[in-house]
Order: sequence, then structure tokens, then C-alpha cells
Amino acid sequence: MFLKYIVKGDRELCGSVRIQGAKNSVLPILAASILSNDKCEIHDCPDLSDVRYTMEILEAIGCSAAYENGTVTVDSSSAFNCEIPPHLMRQLRSSIVFLGAVTMKMGKARMSMPGGCPLGARPIDLHLKALKALGIKAREEAGFIETDASDAKCAHVHLAFPSVGATENTILAAVKIKGESLITNAAREPEIVDLCNFLNAMGAHITGSGTGTIHIEGVASLKGINYRIIPDRIAAATYMCIAMATGGEIELENVKRDHLTAITNELRDEGARVEFFGERGYIRAPGKIKSAAMIKTMPYPGFPTDAQSVFMPHLIKGDSTSVIVENIFENRFKIVPDLNLMGADIVTEGRSAIIRGPRQLSGAHVVAPDLRGGAALLIAALSAKGESVIEDEGHIARGYENLVENIRSLGADIRCE
Ligand code: UD1
Repeated sequence: MFLKYIVKGDRELCGSVRIQGAKNSVLPILAASILSNDKCEIHDCPDLSDVRYTMEILEAIGCSAAYENGTVTVDSSSAFNCEIPPHLMRQLRSSIVFLGAVTMKMGKARMSMPGGCPLGARPIDLHLKALKALGIKAREEAGFIETDASDAKCAHVHLAFPSVGATENTILAAVKIKGESLITNAAREPEIVDLCNFLNAMGAHITGSGTGTIHIEGVASLKGINYRIIPDRIAAATYMCIAMATGGEIELENVKRDHLTAITNELRDEGARVEFFGERGYIRAPGKIKSAAMIKTMPYPGFPTDAQSVFMPHLIKGDSTSVIVENIFENRFKIVPDLNLMGADIVTEGRSAIIRGPRQLSGAHVVAPDLRGGAALLIAALSAKGESVIEDEGHIARGYENLVENIRSLGADIRCE
């Protein structure tokens, strides 16, 4: 859906925001829900276009999926179709997590290559290699992937890179394969732990999630359950960066301190006051922001690639030069020309962005290139003098629930057309 965000900036934003459930947990957990033949109720699912598309995928394979007050109810007892239509696969990158789940539910699967944010090449070689290691026949032809699980067997799967999606697909396939499978160099993201906690509550036997080595003892069946999704650490990081860029102070309800360590260490180094009280967080921006010597994006527990764009607007105000090195995706500096148009001084060289501060931004007409880049442009507009217009073809709504209402409640002058 095409939207224009119109922002009058340069106001300190202060107040309290509740952080939504994690988008990157909901999607694999909805895929996992098809592995039972009962009903699953999944709570704290944010109302996002990615969640709605995932529900359409569930319906396309014959499940029923309903959304009410943040709860998605999935009944997969009537699933009959192993094919996901290409128009749904193209809507979101994480549609690929259905590969492992549908293959094990139906014995085979057929789907086209997934879509998602335009962040550069996003191959699925690690997903296919992992499924093949588990004895699943997987072939790619004319833009389609076809699998067959008739010879599936437990195995040791070593991932050449700790890919989040490939780890999830391997878990979703191995969880119902008889015997003990092992994943080494597994991704350690909190969303992987959430997926394993969900599966274990359904009756799976998975240990080691959150470490690089995950053991899975396959089970014959999984039962339907009620489950609550973890808080979205990237949404939390985004609101923290809103406080930083606008010189404000924000209280965050529903956060997990441990999931935010790389973010909060960096923000404290930049001069912010950050505190936690149970599941509440608090941030106050410093009078003067200290530039970041070097932010390097890394797999968890390193600094998340999804948070680097939203750090840029306040680093533009930093007292000297900041450097961001993007190690995960090759195309994540697309907002730089628009930030420069607003008055920033940022130079990119390959995987590095060099941000020279301090600069005051002014309002401009810009275009959101992807989800986190769109959020970053909104933050830049909130800190800029004058009016900005951010055109967005629907990227921001893929990841942030009630963003406009939340920012307005913090004192922003923002409207949508
Ligand atoms: C997930 C997140 C995304 C986040 C990313 C990295 C979801 C829905 N999305 O994406 O928000 O930015 O983790 O934290 O959870 N790669 C390969 N071959 C593969 C798979 C991945 O080369 O088969 C490469 C990718 O191109 C990328 C890197 O590995 O350079 C990381 O990708 P991955 O961890 O798989 O990210 P996603 O699961 O797509």
C-alpha cells in the first residue's frame, strides 16, 4: 500500500511505548504451527502486512488462520496442498521457512523463490544444502523449488554461515525426522530460541538453541498449544534511536534486556542513559551525542544488521566521525543519498559508511528504499528542521505496528496520506 508520511520535525519526543511482538519470531512460528494437526493460538502477533501474507500462505495450503486482538489461531488439520502460489512467495523473504515445514507436513513441497526487502543477493543455497543433508530431495528449476521427504533421515547438518532462515528451516524439517539430528554453526538469534521454545511446548525435543550447536531428537507428532511471542528487539532499538535523534526520553514496555545488549552497549557509549526494570526499558538521549568509533554488524549476539540504518540519523548529530561496517547484507546503505539530501555528510565505501558529524538535518522529500531504511528516514525527518515527506510503497508497514500512532503519542507532528 502506497503511503506518504508527512513529518514536521525538530521536537523532543518523550513518553511511553509498548513494544510489539517480534515479527521475525511470528513468521517461523506460524510456519511451525502447521506441524501439529491441532489448533495453535499464538499471542502478541503484531498486525503487520508480513503477518497477513503469512496467514494467506497458511490458507493457500488449506489451513484456517484467523487474527483477533493480536492472536493468530491456526488450524492445520485440513491442510491439503503442498504448493505455495508465487504471488505469495514473492511478498516476503521469510516465506522460505515454509519449505521445511510444508515438506514435513505433506511429504513434499513446491514453491517459487521468495521475495522480501531488496538488500542485495539473498540466496537460499544454505537452506537447500541443509535439507539435502537430511535426505530430503530438493531441486530448483525455472524459479521453482521442489522437495520430496520420502527418504528423509536424521543427520549432522553443518551450516557454512549461521543463517537465521537456514537454521529455522533445518529445525522445522528435523523436528519430525526419526532419530537425533545435530546443527552446528547454527544461528543464535533470540528468534531461533523462540521457535525452539514453541516447538518444545508442542512436544518436540530440542536442546541447545541460543548456542551454535542444536540437538533435535525427532518426534512422531506435535500437539496444538497457546504461545506468546517474544518482544521485537529491532522495534525496541528503533524507538531508542527515536529518543536519541530527537533528544528525548522514552520508556519501553515489553522488552527483554538480554536481547538488546549490543544495542544498549553502543547507545551508552554514545552517551545515552539506558536502564531496565524487569520488562521495562528507559532511554534518555545525551545533550551531546558521542560518535560511534566503529559499529560492525554481525550475527547475534553481535550488532544486528536490522538496527544499523536506524542508528544513522542520530550519528549524523555525533560530535565527530562514526563508522558503520555492514557485514551481513551488501545493499543496506540505500538511504545515504536521501540522508545527504537532508544535510548529512555520509560517504560509503564498499561495506562501510563514514558519517561526519555534527550536522543538523533539514526537511526534504525522500523515498523509503526498504523496511529499516524507511524507518531510518522517518527518524531523520523527526530530527530535521522543517517538513519532510517520506514516500513508501509499503515497506514500513511490513515491520512496525502502529508506528504513526506511537510516534504521535510521543509528541511528533506526523500524518499519513
Ligand atoms: C533474517 C531476518 C532479517 C535479518 C537477517 C540477519 C527474518 C524473517 N529475517 O533474515 O530481518 O536481517 O536474518 O539477521 O527472520 N545467505 C546465503 N545463503 C543462504 C542463506 C543466507 O548466502 O542460503 C546469506 C544472506 O545472503 C545474508 C546472510 O547469509 O548475506 C544472512 O542471511 P540470513 O541469516 O539467512 O537472513 P534471513 O534469514 O534472510
